[in-house]
Amino acid sequence: MLKNHFKLISGTANRKLAEDVAKNLKIQLTPVEIKRFHDGEIYCRVLESVRGCDVYVIQPTSPDASLNLMELLIMVDALKRSSPDKITAVVPYYGYCRQDKKTKPREPITAKLVANMIETSGINRVIMFDLHVAQVQGFFDIPSDNLDVIPVFAEYIANKGLKNIVIVSPDAGGAARARSFAKVLNAPIAIVDKRRPEPNVAKVQNVIGDVKGKTAFLVDDIIDTAGSITEAANILIKFGAKEVYALATHGVFSKPAIERIASSEIKEVVVTNTIDIQKEKMISKLRVISIAPLLAETIKRTHEGLPMGVVYENLYRKLERKIA
Ligand code: R5P
Repeated sequence: MLKNHFKLISGTANRKLAEDVAKNLKIQLTPVEIKRFHDGEIYCRVLESVRGCDVYVIQPTSPDASLNLMELLIMVDALKRSSPDKITAVVPYYGYCRQDKKTKPREPITAKLVANMIETSGINRVIMFDLHVAQVQGFFDIPSDNLDVIPVFAEYIANKGLKNIVIVSPDAGGAARARSFAKVLNAPIAIVDKRRPEPNVAKVQNVIGDVKGKTAFLVDDIIDTAGSITEAANILIKFGAKEVYALATHGVFSKPAIERIASSEIKEVVVTNTIDIQKEKMISKLRVISIAPLLAETIKRTHEGLPMGVVYENLYRKLERKIA
């Protein structure tokens, strides 16, 4: 049971997820009015008192990233001026996360700029999922959580009951993620040698590791244009993989991702609902696993000042029993 003075508010980016979280917490979302002026500016008003409350605002900065970010900042400003006790921004997908360093002279570090903006808006804490690179968490100087979905996805893989599997990272940058999956599932790993000649273009040349005759599970943080996973799937099949599945936390699915997935070698693509996926993108190969129970538990524990470690320990214990 949640203590008093708890409020959960949703922006417009992923109201379905916020409703699911509210359901898990057995509470109602706090009503908020969000609308646009004719010139495109955003207006926001919280429709009940939040004075002295511990407030959680759910708003992934998914496409349209800039618009959803601005809406988050405006919601936080509206809250800050309404005397809550604390405000936590729950940003299940952190847009601009991939611009985390300078790769050429005179480039910005936009992931840091966005962290500055969110922090300056007046939040006390931020909860995020599977950041593109873990160090983005350090761009915030307030308490932050970067939750992973490894136990959720590993359970999906374990439920298949397959013996000869390999966990594959679609690029060298994702090797640590693949290794974590492989450790939990007691499986070998392979890495696809991916290059990016320019943004949104993926070229693959080689596979490091043995995939011959195995069911390959590609694991990634983001599927954007789906160039990375479909190119990776092609080369895995070329190197003798029996079949390929792809799992990614965030389904951004910019054009032409859905067309690419539909015509690819991939048997099934699994994402979470950190980003709301429109109906027209829900092709038969696509499966969405909800993070709402995990997010609800995280919010509850944050509100009650309880550790999160035990939640993951329990999830891993359950998984170990399944795999044994
Ligand atoms: C890149 O480093 C990321 O981890 C993803 O692999 C990438 O953002 C996916 O983009 P796309 O689907 O456009 O290839």
